Amino acid sequence: MSSRGNTPIRTFLSAGLMIAFLCFCYSCQPYQKFVPLPVIPGATYIGGEECTDCHEKVADAFPRTLHGKVEFEKWGIAGKGCEGCHGPGSAHSNEAETSKTPKQIIRFKEEHPKGRMGICLQCHRRDREREDFRRSQHAVSQVPCDECHQIHKGGVREASLKRPAPELCYSCHVRIQAEFALPERHKVPEGVVNCPDCHTSHSAANRRQLRQARDEVCFNCHSELRGPWVFEHLSVYVEGCSTCHQPHGSNNRHLLAYQEVASLCLQCHPNTPAFHNQRAVAGNFRNCTFCHVNIHGSNVNHAFFE
Ligand code: HEC
Ligand code: HEC
Ligand code: HEC
Ligand code: HEC
Ligand code: HEC
Ligand code: HEC
Ligand code: HEC
Ligand code: HEC
Ligand code: HEC
Ligand code: HEC
Repeated sequence: MSSRGNTPIRTFLSAGLMIAFLCFCYSCQPYQKFVPLPVIPGATYIGGEECTDCHEKVADAFPRTLHGKVEFEKWGIAGKGCEGCHGPGSAHSNEAETSKTPKQIIRFKEEHPKGRMGICLQCHRRDREREDFRRSQHAVSQVPCDECHQIHKGGVREASLKRPAPELCYSCHVRIQAEFALPERHKVPEGVVNCPDCHTSHSAANRRQLRQARDEVCFNCHSELRGPWVFEHLSVYVEGCSTCHQPHGSNNRHLLAYQEVASLCLQCHPNTPAFHNQRAVAGNFRNCTFCHVNIHGSNVNHAFFE
């Protein structure tokens, strides 16, 4: 009796421990610390209107950008408009009375990447995807928001990107660009598929910043392969698509990791049934998928013949 009484408590405790452990693991992942606005000593907020006098070009365009329509005060940001991102402007404004090159204002190009991220994350850390930004490879490698986004030409392009993907991405990921130049590839250069279909730029929720965990990202478009199958090729579920396929591009047909299908299969199936004579020219047992047609899974045949 008494041991039974304990069970819910034990379950509760072990579930609790498990959750605590998972939280611990998550908090150990590398991440970029949240950094508040860089400090300009002695400066106070003067209100965005002041800036318009001297920065006509930027100020004229600003109302047409998405940020120009945002009421910064609502977000608990001290400065209005311009000063929400560029910091308090009194010192800069005073200096500008006498100098042609006034400093004492946040110039993004000169700030440390950590500080630049902090400015944007004041508001955007509440976004569903951006809230996780600090754990992304981009944040950890100190690629701040304004490397990809432009503020003052907003509305010009989708998401105010400096350049659209994939060109934006290629500017840093040169090796990936080469993979998409291979003869077999997802049609990224042709504009059929694009990097953001599979990756996010902001989140570390999944390995390799994939939009969904593992093969789920592939099923968005290849839904016919999702199954469930009566006879599933276990490897598909145990190891995932990229055991056999190179997701970006490949020299081999069907984006396969091997030139010859047999080399791929024999890795995991070194002992095929004896009649699979690998040396026989006639009958060619090396062309595995000639017979094992539905290699991803089948509802009819355990050896994937149909
Ligand atoms: C009295 C005129 C004046 C006022 C008011 C003023 N600025 Fe400036 N600002 C300047 C001048 C002049 C420069 C230097 C331009 C340059 O270096 O090309 C400058 C430079 C800047 C820069 C750096 C530009 C760059 O190319 O790196 C930023 C950012 C900036 N100002 C933002 C602001 C903001 C935000 C406000 C309002 C709080 C403001 N300014 C108010 C005159 C002014
Ligand atoms: C949402 C954040 C944000 C707001 C709000 C903002 N800026 Fe900027 N500003 C930036 C960033 C980031 C840059 C760096 C260049 C870029 O990526 O567009 C910049 C660059 C500048 C420059 C340098 C010139 C240039 O284009 O490189 C000036 C001047 C400037 N801002 C003035 C202003 C003024 C004036 C306002 C208000 C009307 C304002 N900014 C509002 C983020 C902001
Ligand atoms: C004061 C709060 C605030 C700050 C600071 C801020 N944003 Fe935003 N941003 C917003 C709001 C609100 C929107 C409107 C869309 C939404 O609700 O997500 C927005 C929209 C955007 C969009 C979508 C624009 C589009 O054209 O589709 C981008 C990209 C963006 N912000 C990037 C940035 C970057 C980069 C920075 C830092 C340089 C920054 N934001 C700073 C509040 C802010
Ligand atoms: C490596 C490039 C890159 C970096 C760094 C980056 N972004 Fe983005 N961002 C993109 C791309 C590409 C898109 C559009 C496609 C998508 O949603 O992934 C986007 C979309 C957005 C959107 C949504 C716009 C919309 O129309 O829905 C917002 C908001 C945004 N980014 C804000 C930010 C903020 C804030 C940061 C920094 C904390 C940041 N981004 C850092 C590349 C980047
Ligand atoms: C300003 C340079 C820059 C731009 C632009 C950029 N990246 Fe990155 N990206 C990096 C760096 C640096 C890393 C971390 C080191 C690495 O893995 O190469 C990274 C990492 C990644 C990763 C994670 C790799 C991993 O090992 O987990 C993915 C996925 C990624 N980027 C996709 C994109 C996409 C998609 C775009 C375009 C929307 C883009 N990047 C634009 C610099 C950039
Ligand atoms: C069809 C989906 C898909 C598309 C489109 C795609 N990727 Fe990937 N990418 C993946 C998958 C899946 C992985 C993980 C492969 C693995 O390690 O198992 C990956 C890995 C990566 C990595 C980290 C591994 C490495 O080789 O460095 C980077 C960086 C990356 N992708 C960038 C990009 C960029 C940039 C683009 C656009 C030019 C892009 N990807 C387009 C699916 C895609
Ligand atoms: C945004 C949609 C999309 C996503 C996501 C996607 N694919 Fe594709 N895939 C396609 C399209 C479109 C083709 C091209 C079909 C064609 O060229 O006729 C293709 C072709 C392929 C091919 C080659 C087929 C052949 O006959 O040569 C393979 C293999 C493949 N995808 C695997 C994957 C894997 C693995 C993933 C996940 C990492 C994935 N795909 C994610 C759209 C997608
Ligand atoms: C055990 C290795 C293996 C795994 C794992 C695997 N594939 Fe394949 N896939 C193949 C082979 C081999 C072919 C070529 C079949 C042929 O020769 O006709 C292929 C062909 C394809 C094709 C093109 C032909 C077709 O059937 O439509 C697509 C698309 C594809 N695979 C997507 C995927 C996706 C998505 C995943 C993950 C869910 C995946 N594959 C997992 C081995 C694999
Ligand atoms: C990453 C490892 C891996 C790769 C690569 C692989 N398989 Fe498999 N395959 C497995 C596993 C694991 C099973 C399940 C074995 C079991 O149930 O005993 C399996 C099962 C099978 C079966 C069904 C066996 C049965 O019990 O009926 C066939 C047929 C088969 N694979 C053929 C292939 C062919 C053909 C290829 C190459 C296109 C291939 N496999 C590539 C791991 C792999
Ligand atoms: C000419 C047709 C043909 C070719 C080509 C072929 N197989 Fe088979 N394979 C068969 C037949 C027939 C069976 C027996 C199916 C059964 O037991 O119902 C079989 C069974 C298998 C099995 C499962 C044995 C079991 O446990 O039931 C594996 C694994 C396998 N083949 C792997 C391969 C690999 C790897 C290749 C390529 C190197 C290959 N096959 C090429 C016809 C073929």
